[in-house]
Amino acid sequence: MTVDLNNRYGLNPAHSEVVDACNIVEPCDTLDMGCSNGRNALYLGQLGFNVVAIDANPSAIDMLQSIINQESLTNVKAQVYDINCASLDKDYGFIACTVTLMFLDPVRVNAVIADMQARTLPGGYNLIVCAMSTEEHPCPVRFPFTLNAGQLRETYEGWEFIKYNEDVGTMHNGAQLQFATMLARKPR
Ligand SMILES: C[S@@+](CC[C@H](N)C(=O)[O-])C[C@H]1O[C@@H](n2cnc3c(N)ncnc32)[C@H](O)[C@@H]1O
Repeated sequence: MTVDLNNRYGLNPAHSEVVDACNIVEPCDTLDMGCSNGRNALYLGQLGFNVVAIDANPSAIDMLQSIINQESLTNVKAQVYDINCASLDKDYGFIACTVTLMFLDPVRVNAVIADMQARTLPGGYNLIVCAMSTEEHPCPVRFPFTLNAGQLRETYEGWEFIKYNEDVGTMHNGAQLQFATMLARKPR
């Protein structure tokens, strides 16, 4: 029986969109961008994905690395990396970037997404979940970056959208927050 590593190490369950994506995406070389302490990377690793997990926060990477060491995981690698560099050095079948884009330097986001797209293998997938700020729903949180209406869809023109929505959710304090959620497949 598979052990639930997230539970064992007190981490939250994987992001629900990562869980959903695993119904579509087969195990492959995978990049978890802005992995924090690894809730998504560990989940994917347990499903047989070969995961590189990157984050700019060395403490988060240290924590994930200690789990990797304790569990002798050979298919999850944790690396300190500044996503703003937009210089990935390997190609992936799946790149997941959940609730991370909005913390990046706004002037680097286009380059970051272009690099993600270039580093996705033909037929591979990108998963993005990112806060939006629109006329109808101005973002109530001061993230460095937010998406405009339709912006993510335009940026992925030519890709196949497995999932795309710009749904509005309600936060604990009642404020409304709009998110773009996308699972897209690169043409072969
Ligand atoms: C809200 S957390 C999301 C964590 C994870 N993706 C998830 O779904 O739970 C955002 C993460 O992005 C990381 N981050 C922010 N800016 C970054 C950058 N420039 N390069 C790499 N990681 C960054 C933060 O350290 C943090 O761990």
